Amino acid sequence: MRMTHLRALAPVCPQCLAEQLHDTGCPEPRPLELEEGDGQAEEIECGLLRCLACNAGYPILAGLPVLVPDPARFIADHLVYFLLPADLPEALENWLGEALGGSGWHEAMRRHCSTYGWDHYGDCDPDEATCDAASRPGSAVRSLAVAFENLAAAPHGPVLDVGCGAGRASFALAEQVRGLVLGIDLNVPLLRLARQALHTGEVVYPRRDLGRAYARRRVPFSAACGRQVDFWIADAQQPPFTRGRFGALAALNMVDCLERPAEALAALRRVLADGGRAIISVPYDWAEAVTPVSEWIAGAGGSQSDETDAEAELRTKATAAGFRIVQEWPHQPWRLRLHRRASVTYDTHVLVLAPDETLDGAIP
Ligand SMILES: C[S@@+](CC[C@H](N)C(=O)[O-])C[C@H]1O[C@@H](n2cnc3c(N)ncnc32)[C@H](O)[C@@H]1O
Ligand SMILES: [Zn+2]
Repeated sequence: MRMTHLRALAPVCPQCLAEQLHDTGCPEPRPLELEEGDGQAEEIECGLLRCLACNAGYPILAGLPVLVPDPARFIADHLVYFLLPADLPEALENWLGEALGGSGWHEAMRRHCSTYGWDHYGDCDPDEATCDAASRPGSAVRSLAVAFENLAAAPHGPVLDVGCGAGRASFALAEQVRGLVLGIDLNVPLLRLARQALHTGEVVYPRRDLGRAYARRRVPFSAACGRQVDFWIADAQQPPFTRGRFGALAALNMVDCLERPAEALAALRRVLADGGRAIISVPYDWAEAVTPVSEWIAGAGGSQSDETDAEAELRTKATAAGFRIVQEWPHQPWRLRLHRRASVTYDTHVLVLAPDETLDGAIP
């Protein structure tokens, strides 16, 4: 965790924030204090943040602050990812893959790292240089670029990359803006890839070949504007920031990965400053295991018409969350590599949203 980001973004206690949002009579939460960790150093690898109001502690582990409402539960559920050495020998990694089998946390972790490691950093891998234009890595960043190039003005203030995954869009944002960029996510292995890109000059990820066979890729990556970037563990549905903290935000391909997408849209509106811009891309790929059907934005069935107007439903939800639509791209391809012989291309909907300032005061 970078001290620059901690000081400038002044995260607050997610528990106190939730209380204040529920009962607006409560005082606005104060920024968390660094209780343990070298405050003189720019980078805190291990430490503890404390809420002076309710006394809750929020650990910093492997350089990642855990800023979720129940950090103890989060750490209990994700401890194995924090404990895995970053430089696990490849033979041991492959042994673990075979020993732990194809349906557990290890295989899921490797598949995520393979798919997002490839899309986020494959363009820097000489091994991918022969990809034809349609199948080259980098599609998430291309979705961002389509929208970013059309912003009337560069955003003022810090930028939030929500559901940043392996972090490449955060670096792309830093190249476009002067301010700080923060990537947040709940996936520890992907955040560790993002931190590796930030701090080591290379990204090492398992690229899936076929079945359970992976080949380790070691990809050079120089984070040109890396000093502006940091990565934290935080929930898009309860971002630990006071109102209007960010001048812009991106939420790429993640709204349909949430348990409560409408709540997330409202939360993102809350942390966006008046005059700010939100870039979102949505593949509408709802899964019941992640999002209860009642929360799906389109596609839940039951309508009389043959085709759901998913785009209209998303506009309605965004408007209800306090946004207005600035611009849209209805068909932006987003391609994810599954293995050497398979990929999936989503037809995503990209939007630029702005706070609807006529609603000021009506939105919490
Ligand atoms: C489909 S991936 C997209 C990653 C990246 N934005 C991209 O476009 O390549 C969705 C990301 O959202 C993250 N995510 C899911 N639920 C989240 C939540 N509640 N808060 C923050 N991130 C979340 C996942 O861990 C994952 O990294
Ligand atoms: Zn608190």
